[in-house]
Amino acid sequence: SECVVGSAGQIGYALVPMIARGVMLGPDQPVILHMLDIPPAAEALNGVKMELVDAAFPLLKGVVATTDVVEACTGVNIAVMVGGFPRKEGMERKDVMSKNVSIYKSQASALEKHAAANCKVLVVANPANTNALILKEFAPSIPEKNITCLTRLDHNRALGQISERLNVQVSDVKNVIIWGNHSSTQYPDVNHATVKTPAGEKPVRELVKDDAWLNAEFITTVQQRGAAIIKARKLSSALSAASSACDHIHDWVLGTPEGTWVSMGVYSDGSYNVPAGLIYSFPVTCQNGEWKIVQGLSIDEFSRKKLDLTADELSEEKALAYSCLA
Ligand code: NAD
Ligand code: LMR
Repeated sequence: SECVVGSAGQIGYALVPMIARGVMLGPDQPVILHMLDIPPAAEALNGVKMELVDAAFPLLKGVVATTDVVEACTGVNIAVMVGGFPRKEGMERKDVMSKNVSIYKSQASALEKHAAANCKVLVVANPANTNALILKEFAPSIPEKNITCLTRLDHNRALGQISERLNVQVSDVKNVIIWGNHSSTQYPDVNHATVKTPAGEKPVRELVKDDAWLNAEFITTVQQRGAAIIKARKLSSALSAASSACDHIHDWVLGTPEGTWVSMGVYSDGSYNVPAGLIYSFPVTCQNGEWKIVQGLSIDEFSRKKLDLTADELSEEKALAYSCLA
């Protein structure tokens, strides 16, 4: 069973049918959906439940729609946390900090007490890394390996930009990296990324042949993509966020293909000299339901500065989060 928190919102509405179709856990895995929202959204949430029944998804074995966080969290194996407030045009993601971190503090205890023992948690709501960190700190009995945040959307955005630029299939591009925060300081790194070509795998840098574009416009486009979507839609991204959340859980549970890594926001152990104790996006491979940070990648001077800058922002956010909770 899963729990999708904030299910009556935009991402929730896009995400629940994907889960019920088997996009997240595979076409052979039956699912029971637990959906939580707050009382003002109870009626809308019930409407989503009605639509889930109406869609007659073969894999969907049950739906719990509730405004009771304990009922929502009880027995769940996977928790996708999307509840919270999205930013509007002109805001940075940390501007929604004070509203959202307190939600994650209280949901931490419900998950800790009532979720299945090995529950995997994905925090989507912004500021995603810091909300995940607060959830971790206020749910000390959940193993830290089980608490992650979504940067797969940024990872997929980077794949999409390379695919458009080179006019190649997005499925032939791999091993981009998102380092750090799901914010405008994130570092989308293509130094180890490759494209499958008829002549074998080629480095992205060799094919793009334009380091100026890769070192500037490409990076800012990925960093600012969330803001560009808000500007265009007057709403923040939802279908791409939901789809990327499915990718994140899918690969975490079912494994990454041989030779391929993905980006996940995970609890830093000090790898790549990133301060331990932050939820930071790293390249990871997954096997048997566990992620592992890819080790030994070379980091040039340009990259080093960018890894440090986004780590600094996360340290500041952590302090700000604690001041909001005080
Ligand atoms: P939304 O406003 O459409 O939906 C959020 C839902 O959460 C609403 O139904 C609201 O009632 C509910 N909610 C509020 N407080 C809650 C609580 N305490 N418990 C349970 N539910 C609660 O927003 P959205 O567009 O679905 O976005 C959700 C969050 O995801 C936002 O913070 C947004 O910024 C973030 N986001 C993150 C990424 C990412 O890549 N990490 C991508 C897109 C959006
Ligand atoms: C995104 O990246 O699209 C989301 O985090 C929404 C936002 O505020 O940018």
